[in-house]
Amino acid sequence: MALVTGASRGIGAATAVELGRLGAHVVITARTQGGLEETDDAIRATGSAATLLPLDLLDGDQVDAIGPSLFERFGRLDILVSNAGALGRLTPVPHILPRDWADVVGVNLAATWHLIRTCGPLLQIADAGRAVFITTGLARAPKAYWGAYGATKAGLEHLVLTWAEETRTTRLRVNLFDPGVVATRLRAMAMPGEDPTPLARPTDVAPAIAALCLPTETRHGAVVG
Ligand SMILES: NC(=O)c1ccc[n+]([C@@H]2O[C@H](COP(=O)([O-])OP(=O)(O)OC[C@H]3O[C@@H](n4cnc5c(N)ncnc54)[C@H](OP(=O)(O)O)[C@@H]3O)[C@@H](O)[C@H]2O)c1
Repeated sequence: MALVTGASRGIGAATAVELGRLGAHVVITARTQGGLEETDDAIRATGSAATLLPLDLLDGDQVDAIGPSLFERFGRLDILVSNAGALGRLTPVPHILPRDWADVVGVNLAATWHLIRTCGPLLQIADAGRAVFITTGLARAPKAYWGAYGATKAGLEHLVLTWAEETRTTRLRVNLFDPGVVATRLRAMAMPGEDPTPLARPTDVAPAIAALCLPTETRHGAVVG
């Protein structure tokens, strides 16, 4: 049983399909119902099944309810792929708008904490709990105009690596994955004039993310990618 956030398109959708291909039942979440339905169709085509969970990660109460509702419905959670991300707008730090700041901090950082809080207990009682969080090299290499996005991903990395330290002696394996540049809507929003043709596709990076979810995975507290 797997949960993938940001599964309505892009890297999250491709990862959910890859996990389906590996035989997992995948709970897919995002705000866009139509996108989730497309991902659902693709998962069904692999012979696996999905459950749609439309929600806004900015609503902490809804995120907090995920763990208990998964336990009630399925009795377990083996895999968390925390992939959803918000870019905001590329702009100098003094020009970041409060609305964009709230969105980026809310999705990239606060929702990560809510997800760990609500899914952590289930992942820790699983036989081979696996958690993967999608990050970016910008978290470790600040770049002009990417401040809100980079700062929240740096915070995400710190939070996740701290949790990895706390769970080192358990069966749970927790890792970060940096996909590099991938042709998605987020990338197109950041670089509107860029030709996406030579860029990696979500389906190119999804297998490496899914590999971090396998029971055989031994890495822990690593930044992979
Ligand atoms: N593409 C790249 O080059 C690149 C590089 C490094 C890291 N990443 C990371 O990769 C991850 C996936 O991004 P992507 O490139 O695949 O972008 P994307 O295609 O724009 O997908 C972003 C996903 O996040 C979801 N999301 C955003 N805000 C949300 C909210 N408030 N509530 C619930 N879901 C929300 C979106 O769903 P809805 O809009 O339907 O809610 C969508 O499914 C992100 O964490 C991103 O930072 C991407």
